Amino acid sequence: MTATIIDGKAFAARVRGEVAEHVARLKSEHGITPGLAVVLVGEDPASQVYVRNKGKQTVEAGMASFERKLPAETSERDLLAVVEELNNDPAVHGILVQLPLPKHLNEDLVINSIAPEKDVDGFHISNVGRLATGQKAMVPCTPLGCLMLLRDHFGSLSGKNAVVVGRSNIVGKPMAQLLLRDSATVTIAHSRTQDLPEVCRRADILVAAVGRPEMITGDYVKPGAVVIDVGINRVEGEGGKTKLVGDVDFESASAVAGAITPVPGGVGPMTIACLLANTLTSCCRAHGLPEPEGLTA
Ligand code: GUN
Repeated sequence: MTATIIDGKAFAARVRGEVAEHVARLKSEHGITPGLAVVLVGEDPASQVYVRNKGKQTVEAGMASFERKLPAETSERDLLAVVEELNNDPAVHGILVQLPLPKHLNEDLVINSIAPEKDVDGFHISNVGRLATGQKAMVPCTPLGCLMLLRDHFGSLSGKNAVVVGRSNIVGKPMAQLLLRDSATVTIAHSRTQDLPEVCRRADILVAAVGRPEMITGDYVKPGAVVIDVGINRVEGEGGKTKLVGDVDFESASAVAGAITPVPGGVGPMTIACLLANTLTSCCRAHGLPEPEGLTA
């Protein structure tokens, strides 16, 4: 069997297009422009690339983009003051503090200082609790993107066996909550799971979010299963050049799976598309307007 390739790049472009249409309507019918603020502390090169892409796609969707670039030695007090200012700014509907933060800053404290309704990352403890208890929440962007791809593929996830490999707060745990909310039977596996290949082979839906290049090979995959690869790992390729690979060994897994996301071009592009969707959702909620259909969890 050769798997169908799930084209996350094309799907993300469609999501961004829908967001842009909603934004245009918000502007013309209500005179409202959704705004996203991104806070970057320090000069981590990967973070700079992410932040630049976020700003570019925010503007392309017709939203207002606010960037706060602060020096690496910024004090916690000064960073909290910036977040507080954005919390109080009615033009800002979404706030994202780029992680990782420099070591001297307490990430939990900073994230939990963001107004929960503006927390478009869905990392605030209040949003984590709301997601876990089935209340209206802001949902982390990468798991939301995976959910959109899965719903598009299956229609309903009800009764499917889902195995999430990885238990991070950013991907693994919220992914499991979202699958559970869609009535899948969910297992969270991790580095201490016994006989991981056997556990993974029970999955109709296998989500790999471990951060280990090409760890999930074809013998972890049930024939016909849908494999979602969240990993983005830069490894040495041929001729000393680097290349991006996922947590899934694409070649062996795609010979067994029914459908699979590639890296790059799978889950990756969905993350920023969902960030824009979350900012739009937050703006609609702030103004008491109906939420955009198909763009929320
Ligand atoms: N750094 C890497 N990914 C993310 C993300 O999704 N959100 C934030 N805030 N920082 C990140």
